[in-house]
Amino acid sequence: MTELELLAQHVSEGLAAPQKALSPAWFYDDEGSRLFQQIMALPEYYLTRAEHALLEARGDELAALIDPAGQPLDLVELGSGDGSKMLGLLGRLRARNPGTVYRPVDLSEHALTELARRFGEQLPELTLAPVRGDYFNAWPPAGAGRRQVALYMGSNLGNQDQPGALSLLRRIRGKLRPGDALVLGLDMVKDPRVILAAYHDGQGVTARFNLNLLARLNRELGMDFALDRFAHYACYNPLDGAARSFLVSALTQEVHSSHLGRSFHFAAGETIYTEQSQKYTPAMVQALAEQSGFEPAGLLLDEAGWYGLAFWRVADKG
Ligand code: AVJ
Repeated sequence: MTELELLAQHVSEGLAAPQKALSPAWFYDDEGSRLFQQIMALPEYYLTRAEHALLEARGDELAALIDPAGQPLDLVELGSGDGSKMLGLLGRLRARNPGTVYRPVDLSEHALTELARRFGEQLPELTLAPVRGDYFNAWPPAGAGRRQVALYMGSNLGNQDQPGALSLLRRIRGKLRPGDALVLGLDMVKDPRVILAAYHDGQGVTARFNLNLLARLNRELGMDFALDRFAHYACYNPLDGAARSFLVSALTQEVHSSHLGRSFHFAAGETIYTEQSQKYTPAMVQALAEQSGFEPAGLLLDEAGWYGLAFWRVADKG
């Protein structure tokens, strides 16, 4: 199926369901990617800064976990974006082990071009092998005698609910071999007010990011969403550690798609569920590792305990 066919099918199902829902995977068109860049710079959105600070402060420890013995090593980063936050860690790994190869995997050609430019300037001695495509179809095969360490950063796993996270982690596990490992960047459970503010910023950037999904449907599926008739709503539930975002219909309305040849009814106050951003406790991280076939071998937290880098091994045979 083409991208457009996938989107069309997703929207016909998602907006016809009793609880309307759309996947956050569709946020990232050009405008959505630009808005996400702005989100990462917001004062309320601590995640990106926390991850970056942790990679700096604990980078040597992480590098030692990733590459204890200086064996030939491939770093496979899932959803690398422009890779800028990984420069420091990759510099450390390459200094320990000149045979390190960085294989960033991303859907965006633009992000990978930007990554190649940046690494060419700032870390030209590192061997770079970018791969454009879907994580699992594009997964680079491991060379003979080379270890692979997968990286899934930015709390991107948080977009999955529990079953979704387990199946994603098991698929990653399926690509790896004994002795390989996975590094996850995860946002941790903390003061619920801090978490809620990250998804409900004062400048309304997150609201524009959420509403941009409707602008995308207008453009790509010939829909007629009036963006001023929907509002961004975010909540955080300490009982399950999930921040969730919705778009709320301000009034009763019909929205039509010329591409799908059908309309969707919205009651006043009806919501479209657009995103889950899961927060984790150390116990949840441990349980996820065990349930997906990994051996949890380290969780580096920042001083406040706000953000974590989990290091999971694939146990050696024997
Ligand atoms: C890219 C999925 C980690 O859930 O925090 C930011 C996306 N959504 N603000 C997150 C996002 C609203 C982000 N992730």
